[in-house]
Amino acid sequence: MDAEEFRRRGMEMVDYVANYLENIEQRPVYPDVEPGYLRSLIPTEAPLEPDNYDDIIKDVDRVIMPGVTHWHSPYFFAYFPAATSYPALLADMLCGAIGCIGFSWAASPACTELETVMLDWLGKMLNLPEHFIAGTHGHGGGVIQSTASEATLVTLLAARCKAVRRVQASNPEKSEAEILSKLVAYTSEQAHCSVERASLIGGAMIKKVPTDNNYAVGGDMFKKMLEEDKAAGLIPFYFCATLGTTASCAFDRITELGPICNKENIWMHIDAAYAGSAFICPEFRPLLNGIEFADSFNFNPHKWLLINFDCSTMWYVLYVYILWDTKTCLTKGELLIFFSHWGIPLGRRFRSLKMWFVFRMYGIQGLQHVGLAKEFESLVRADKRFEICAEVIMGLVCFRLKGSNRLNELLLKRITKSREIHLVPCQLSGRFVLRFAICARTTDSRHIQQAWRHITQLTFEILQEPNH
Ligand SMILES: Cc1ncc(COP(=O)(O)O)c(C=O)c1O
Repeated sequence: MDAEEFRRRGMEMVDYVANYLENIEQRPVYPDVEPGYLRSLIPTEAPLEPDNYDDIIKDVDRVIMPGVTHWHSPYFFAYFPAATSYPALLADMLCGAIGCIGFSWAASPACTELETVMLDWLGKMLNLPEHFIAGTHGHGGGVIQSTASEATLVTLLAARCKAVRRVQASNPEKSEAEILSKLVAYTSEQAHCSVERASLIGGAMIKKVPTDNNYAVGGDMFKKMLEEDKAAGLIPFYFCATLGTTASCAFDRITELGPICNKENIWMHIDAAYAGSAFICPEFRPLLNGIEFADSFNFNPHKWLLINFDCSTMWYVLYVYILWDTKTCLTKGELLIFFSHWGIPLGRRFRSLKMWFVFRMYGIQGLQHVGLAKEFESLVRADKRFEICAEVIMGLVCFRLKGSNRLNELLLKRITKSREIHLVPCQLSGRFVLRFAICARTTDSRHIQQAWRHITQLTFEILQEPNH
């Protein structure tokens, strides 16, 4: 493909994408295919001779689209949102064109510098404490990771390194292996499974702290576990708090947990993968109070801030050890030149372009909208056959039919089979619960009302059946 053809095909692709997104509502949100559907639709080997571009595009419609779950359909209410917007798509195209591997300032000065400034812009939008902002005299700064899982792993590894050094400083006779075998990390029993996975990869024991009636961890229960573990000779070193849990959007009480962590030399990481974006709204910012006690903080603008996957922003207070060069003291300035020291991969895309385009095209006010979940909650509350299962704080409603888990499983099965709307379940206190998350940028009141009509219609049909 030469530049001339690229121009032509590029315009066609922009048309294709705009048509796809503007008409997505007409597609069934959930695909009607069985596992393995795709293999039989394409050859078993790559072509020896070049294929024709028109044939490739035809195959997008024949092979790919039938197997796509349409995350940007206004009838997609599953998981948490995946953000998208036209400015972010355009910026991603430019990122692909520049195609740099921005691991250091010299490898692409604009890539390194824009990322630092964008993390400062976003940090200020969230009103983060000054020590997280790179353009100040503080010790911290922000960086883009691919995912929240990666951010958790990176912070756990850094915390592990810090703990080993601290213990060895006062007990030089202790080997690293001996210390590692005693380290213990903590998180909520409601935390995302990526926290447990980080501890497995990081070779550290992890304990789950029980939650209260709101599915949140408070200080008392954590303190009790700490005392028991310290008495047993273990070394607590890391606590991953969640702001906005995956199941029910619960908020750990970081104003209680933070001072405990600081006093006990425990690294407090805050995983706000979903909820973090909402902290740019003044009415939600109080939920981030306690951030001043944290060593690191992460959330995914690619969930809820109109920036396409991947863009997971992480801030941390820098210490002299950072992941890959634990013996050398690096200054903040040096670290800001070598972003590769802040995460696992050496190679990094120019992802901050997406942030820059979106923040400028929307402005902060254009991003401050949260509301439709309350409308859905009112519909559920008005129907006595249903119950709300957790407080609705942001864009997630956890609800269920009063009755058995089996009944709710059946309702969800019918919803999925209908392919008109898409939801996923969770377990709360042993109960099967349906999660209704407001996801697409284009979802409005009309879609919420339609989704509820659909759910109540299926409910009516199920309740008519003799052995429901
Ligand atoms: C609270 C929380 N943490 C972590 C994750 C994992 O996110 P990622 O896919 O960015 O690793 C999720 C996913 O939804 C989440 O809700």
